[in-house]
Amino acid sequence: MADKRRILITNALPYANAALHLGHILEYTQTDIWARFQRLRGHEVHYMSADDAHGTAIMLKAEERGISPEAHIAEMKAIHEADFRDFLISVDHYHSTHSEENRQLCELIYQRLVAAGHIEQREIVQPYDPVRGLFLADRYIVGTCPRCNAPGQYGDNCEACGATYSPMELIEPRSVLSGARPEPRRSLHYFFRLPDFADFLKGWVRAGHVPEEIANKLEEWFAAGLESWDISRDAPYFGFEIPGAPGKYFYVWLDAPIGYMAAFQAYCERTGLSFDDFWGRDSTAEVHHFIGKDIVNFHALFWPAMLEGAGFRTPTAIHVHGFLTVDGKKMSKSRGTFINARTWLEHLDPEPLRYYFASKLGPGIEDIDLNLEDFVQKVNSDLVGKVVNIASRCARFVERAGGVMAERLAEPALWERFAAAGEAIAEHYEQLRYQRAIREIMALADAANEYIAARAPWQLAKEPGREREVVEICSLGLNLFRTLMVYLKPVLPATAARAEAFLADTLTWESAQRPLLGHRIRKFEPLLSRVDRKQVEKLLEASREAAQPAPERRQGGGERPATVTLETFAQLDLRVARVLAARAVEGADRLLELELELGGGERRRVFAGLRPAYQPEALVGRLVVVVANLAPRKMRFGVSEGMVLAAGEGAQLFLVSPDPGAEPGMPVR
Ligand code: 2FM
Ligand code: ZN
Repeated sequence: MADKRRILITNALPYANAALHLGHILEYTQTDIWARFQRLRGHEVHYMSADDAHGTAIMLKAEERGISPEAHIAEMKAIHEADFRDFLISVDHYHSTHSEENRQLCELIYQRLVAAGHIEQREIVQPYDPVRGLFLADRYIVGTCPRCNAPGQYGDNCEACGATYSPMELIEPRSVLSGARPEPRRSLHYFFRLPDFADFLKGWVRAGHVPEEIANKLEEWFAAGLESWDISRDAPYFGFEIPGAPGKYFYVWLDAPIGYMAAFQAYCERTGLSFDDFWGRDSTAEVHHFIGKDIVNFHALFWPAMLEGAGFRTPTAIHVHGFLTVDGKKMSKSRGTFINARTWLEHLDPEPLRYYFASKLGPGIEDIDLNLEDFVQKVNSDLVGKVVNIASRCARFVERAGGVMAERLAEPALWERFAAAGEAIAEHYEQLRYQRAIREIMALADAANEYIAARAPWQLAKEPGREREVVEICSLGLNLFRTLMVYLKPVLPATAARAEAFLADTLTWESAQRPLLGHRIRKFEPLLSRVDRKQVEKLLEASREAAQPAPERRQGGGERPATVTLETFAQLDLRVARVLAARAVEGADRLLELELELGGGERRRVFAGLRPAYQPEALVGRLVVVVANLAPRKMRFGVSEGMVLAAGEGAQLFLVSPDPGAEPGMPVR
């Protein structure tokens, strides 16, 4: 084997504002298989991850829940860690970007960049929400497209006609947070001078650190010209204040990748490893980042440039994967295919999914499809039908003969073929060609099954005097099974652990080169159970339920305060409205789209979860009460511009209506 490598591995850090879904699990599985493979080969591996804890979205999420951002991110971190653990992700240290290590490293890197002249300041004009008192990123502004007049368009481009514009050019722009009209405001921002690193980056991306298709994409960006990167955000912001710049914070995307280093720093303090051995300029260790294709610019441009500018080593490799689709389509809440990690674990084991992902993953950036039919079929036929089957068919004959395996190999050539396949399979893992590794392993499994079927030990066992032959055949079968488990161990760590218990042996990559002879095994226990189609159906049902966009479900699930002040209550613009039109929304079993008149000719479109209780036509003409200043909410079907009040839930839902005589527009107090 090659010399012992020192390898630091990271994953994209999940945001601390939402549950993990199968897209995260795809990436973490890809990374975990690689990490486990490298360990199995005897290398020194340190696998780091963390929660990405900063930014406006997380600040607002905590606010919505009525708790501090610190309490919110601590809770999310614990949830994320449990999800990863239960998917058998072998992260060595899971940190948070909201940590002292990260603050110090951010300041250090920033100050080095300042000292080297790579930071500049300039005033920019941005939309500002005067009610919430904060600057609005594009995604927090909604309005009518200035080109095609489509209502409910977000940010800086129109989904209806494809026009791009500045969000302030929207007709009737409104803050998604308060409904207020954003106003342009000036503010001083800090920029990282990316163009200073143009030559460095051009060389770096061509030096094999990123996949070739990504390098080609980056070439286009170089040709278009690099621009300075805005690394500051104004208060209020949940993050680290920039040293010497009160009220200015590091943009979350500056501190997030530094979080990789911070996690490692904290881990070094725990283990005594040397930080500089891995991050120092002269490091001979390897640093591998695994990410999705949507965040390439941050990792292949800003990140290496920042490291280079601040005197640290740059990454060995950025490994990029595509997105996860389910049954050929983008994950969808209404189809029930937006599957949270925890929901999966409540219905199915992690290993079948790990295996399925492995059987499809390659080094490229094309999307990976989880086809649920194919999933059930493949997992059952490959893992249960082929691999585990070898052990369960052979074990009892060895057990019957005292549980000791034969002293010789019944067919050395077959054993040799299995052993010799190791190097090619290792190279496939090394190069992230997991699908090819799995294909080769399954071809070996087929060969093992053919051998056993041809020798039919269960027939021979009936013939007197052939006991020894039977044990030899079955011992070879178990040795072949053992080799398969060596090769599958990075993918199926729990099954491999059960196989190790049964074989009374610890499997390393080298184990595939030396058979067990005259070795005592333990009692065979089932290693893996079949996946039942019904489990998958239940999973989809549960996912569909968890994703109900029902307006009456309390957002965030935070606790409600015991009392509110009159001022707080007065902030609600409750008004009488008349239903002008109502129709069912295709693809949403619970929603009705309502057109409302709010008085003075003002019209609004509201999506309400009334369908289980009301026929649309029965609502037309009816008076209802709306929360008129609820921030517009983007739904899959369009933007909902308010909320209709109702009591109850589901089919037992009762609209709140004023007595006859009330007029649209009357305030409700
Ligand atoms: O895209 C995301 O989910 C980010 N939270 C990933 C951050 S990766 C690294 F830079 F921290
Ligand atoms: Zn448009």
